[in-house]
Amino acid sequence: MLGKKSSRTSSALPTGNCYTHCSMLQETLEQGRALTDAALDRLIPKETQEPASIHKAMRHSVFAGGKRLRPVLCMEAGRMVAGKKTAGSLPKKIEDLGAALEMLHTYSLIHDDLPALDNDDLRRGRPTCHKVFGDALAILAGDALQTQAYEVLAQLECPAEARVKIIEEIARGTGTVDGMIGGQVVDLEAEHTQPTAEMLEYIHRAKTAALITASLVSGGLYAGAKKNEVEKLRAFGRSIGLAFQIVDDVLDVTQTSEQLGKTAGKDTSAQKATYPALFGIDESLRKADALVSAAFAELDSFGDRAETLKELARYLVERKK
Ligand code: IPE
Ligand code: IPE
Ligand code: MG
Ligand code: MG
Ligand code: MG
Repeated sequence: MLGKKSSRTSSALPTGNCYTHCSMLQETLEQGRALTDAALDRLIPKETQEPASIHKAMRHSVFAGGKRLRPVLCMEAGRMVAGKKTAGSLPKKIEDLGAALEMLHTYSLIHDDLPALDNDDLRRGRPTCHKVFGDALAILAGDALQTQAYEVLAQLECPAEARVKIIEEIARGTGTVDGMIGGQVVDLEAEHTQPTAEMLEYIHRAKTAALITASLVSGGLYAGAKKNEVEKLRAFGRSIGLAFQIVDDVLDVTQTSEQLGKTAGKDTSAQKATYPALFGIDESLRKADALVSAAFAELDSFGDRAETLKELARYLVERKK
């Protein structure tokens, strides 16, 4: 827990024995990570493949121990839409979609850390890509992960119509209009300014919630989601994605670099527009909690098939790294 346990609402938590739920969540996260990592290893060229330096740089950042949350959310959305109740029974080869999302996310991190952006030395517990390989290769490694992701998406083993929709959804979620790149632009332009709450919300929705939403929606589309199911996943993603970035801002203030695997206290020193800077830590956590509770309602029609996604959403705001 981030704050004091008693100050956080638990009414929206799945009911039942905590031990069972905690271990179920652990299992979902660990299985999802293992599946994603195996797909990434298969889909990214080996370090020995020429030109070797770029493949080493890509793998340095991808295999540095990320949480793999976007792939896990994607795969769980797919499982839920496919009508399966238990974790583990996933649509065939959906991990390739998860891997493509993780490539895009890792590309965004490599570029986010560049001296021209956030200028960070530490990522996922390792020196950042540009620290090890230099700025030029880090830029190219980010670019390469992006193009590799679309090659993988083009080959997904789902009906062609769904594949095209998935590609469109992900391209938009990482693009300039309300997407990841647009959010990164406004994030940089808001440094050293006093942003309004509206602008801050825009930054967080675009730079982070958009890709998280695209992860959930694309997982649903892979499993054949109907229009109304897609809209429910979209609304769920918008809320938990915003909550996720609010918590990222809070962790930057409350945790150490060792705990995070990335430089703590960075947002304050760079005078970033963040939720704790505008609202304080407690109010930021209350907002994140409220967003997650509201998101739960979006999945009601999926019944108990939504239990794992709800647990994952709760984990997003209770995580410590
Ligand atoms: C960090 O994302 C960047 C943000 C969008 C806040 P994660 O917290 O998911 O980072 P990894 O993938 O686990 O390293
Ligand atoms: C980054 O936000 C969001 C991205 C699109 C990569 P941050 O700059 O807060 O992410 P961290 O804290 O460096 O991981
Ligand atoms: Mg940033
Ligand atoms: Mg950063
Ligand atoms: Mg951050």
